[in-house]
Amino acid sequence: MKKILITGGAGYIGSHTAVELVNAGFEPIVLDDLSNSDSKVLNRLEEIVGKKIPFYQGDCNDLAVLDQIGKDHQLSGVIHFAAFKAVGESTQFPLDYYRNNIGSLVVLLEFMQKRGIKDLVFSSSCTVYGQPDQLPVTEDTPRKDAESPYGNTKKVCEDILVDFVKSKPDIRVISLRYFNPIGAHPSGKIGELPIGTPNNLVPFVTQTAAGIREKLTVFGNDYDTSDGSCVRDFIHVMDLADAHVKALSFLSKQNTDYYEVFNVGTGNGNTVLEVIETFQKVNGIKLNYQIGPRRPGDVVKIWADTQKINQVLGWYPKFSLEDSLRDSWNWQKNL
Ligand code: NAD
Ligand code: UD1
Repeated sequence: MKKILITGGAGYIGSHTAVELVNAGFEPIVLDDLSNSDSKVLNRLEEIVGKKIPFYQGDCNDLAVLDQIGKDHQLSGVIHFAAFKAVGESTQFPLDYYRNNIGSLVVLLEFMQKRGIKDLVFSSSCTVYGQPDQLPVTEDTPRKDAESPYGNTKKVCEDILVDFVKSKPDIRVISLRYFNPIGAHPSGKIGELPIGTPNNLVPFVTQTAAGIREKLTVFGNDYDTSDGSCVRDFIHVMDLADAHVKALSFLSKQNTDYYEVFNVGTGNGNTVLEVIETFQKVNGIKLNYQIGPRRPGDVVKIWADTQKINQVLGWYPKFSLEDSLRDSWNWQKNL
């Protein structure tokens, strides 16, 4: 059984990916410093997969921790989720973001090269496209200047990977550019756990439906879109998790010193108001919402061209927006 290190594996996307890795016959090893997650996630993960998942609580910037994992386990690959991800916070504490998000990648690459670990999947983001000039965005759509230090860390990490692979380090790397992950494991045992007031749309929707927040504000309804609200490509987190499994399987068949980026989205754009309507319809709930001013820095519309990942990795999404919003609500109710 191939052992895969998942940095940030107690987090939202990492925990769902751990499930899909087990389902595909891999053995995940989780490293997480729990800076944005809870150790209880590990117990719930183990309930879902019915087996123990090795867990190391530690910082991915710490080579000694990685070395210990490398000694304990013969790793064949790494999925690097560990990062800080709050856009607003990154403008207040840019150095924390540069140190954690960029530093951890550099340390991890040194560790992989030292140990001869060949395969890496890196968490990038559609944020690298900024406000795109053409839609849908393909992987060749030019990247734009980042709107935030967080966004810049993803751009810089992609650049580091390009430079590193060019130096022929004998490794294979895929960067997955995620669009907007939503939803939760259909069991309702794991899902997104935002700390404090959520910034992202769907956690705000579910917390409003649960009565934790009084009212959802739609940030603008006067954009040049079908109903005036912004457009995003919302992808179920289990589909996103599956893309990591497909990426790892594909990498193991490539020659080393391989690097490619792939969009991971559904290929469909939905407006914020469509998300609200769909949430109300599938869950039979009336949401308290109001239209508010535009959020500074928001991208007006973006969705993915997914031909590359469809054709090269053979990955297709299986879940609909309805499924995602049902699973998000199921998770919130279980909380
Ligand atoms: P998350 O915060 O739920 O998970 C990240 C995990 O990494 C957390 O459990 C946190 O405790 C851990 N972590 C952070 N720094 C660490 C370090 N130095 N050492 C060890 N663990 C550390 O976030 P997520 O939504 O699961 O995102 C995972 C990755 O995907 C991140 O790199 C994020 O930037 C990227 N991404 C997320 C989204 C999104 O909308 N959720 C979109 C695009 C890209
Ligand atoms: C945001 C980040 C992006 C990051 C992504 C995943 C910004 C500008 N972008 O993307 O870099 O990769 O999160 O973490 O912050 N909305 C409301 N009301 C709300 C919350 C959101 O109307 O209470 C709207 C937003 O205006 C936006 C859409 O919902 O149009 C999606 O917002 P969000 O979930 O924050 O994701 P992104 O803006 O796509």
